[in-house]
Amino acid sequence: MTQDELKQAVAKAAVDYIAPKLERSSIVGVGTGSTANFFIDFLAQYKDEFDGAVASSEATAERLKKHGIEVYDLNSVSEMEFYVDGADETNANLELIKGGGAALTREKIVAAVAKTFICIADGSKMVDILGDFPLPVEVIPMARSHVGREIVKLGGDPVYRDGVTTDNGNIIIDVHNLDISRPIQMEEKLNNIVGVVTNGLFARRPADLLLLGTSEGVKRIS
Ligand code: 5RP
Repeated sequence: MTQDELKQAVAKAAVDYIAPKLERSSIVGVGTGSTANFFIDFLAQYKDEFDGAVASSEATAERLKKHGIEVYDLNSVSEMEFYVDGADETNANLELIKGGGAALTREKIVAAVAKTFICIADGSKMVDILGDFPLPVEVIPMARSHVGREIVKLGGDPVYRDGVTTDNGNIIIDVHNLDISRPIQMEEKLNNIVGVVTNGLFARRPADLLLLGTSEGVKRIS
């Protein structure tokens, strides 16, 4: 199977998992990226069976609206059962690296609100130790150099993602060669650098369920 076919398989598995649990009043949190896009396309078949969605990016909001799915501001939502999103890397503890699509801050906020975070990923995303994928960090523009210097002190090699402005008006620094053998500690250290808005480690709040696409089928890991 191609990587896209695996992404489609996990996106469909996520819809099959949540659809029977949706109620007319349900709000679904929706992530960003190519796997999340497949999820949106499958979810659209059930659009009359739930209330609407909260989007983790402008791109996702646009795609949801094109399908006729109502998009809510997170501030108007008091309860959300499911958040479904892809990842750039996952380990066996369902700790993730996210933010390849620069949507990490809103993704982390929506994931924090949801009761159940379902990660959908093709098998290439599973790793023993996080960090081969450069870790995205969203940074307030005026803090770019300061944050870069602090990241070097943590042992990483910061690379400014040229030409990218996040939905929040900030920049992205991708951190190469970082030792992420202790993901929760590294997430907290990065969060403590002044000028960092969010980093792409989802370890303090990992996924609750991983649907992993493999050539033998979709594996459920929790
Ligand atoms: C966007 C993300 C995505 O979930 C991540 O980049 C995976 O993308 P894809 O599903 O296209 O492989 O974190 O910020």
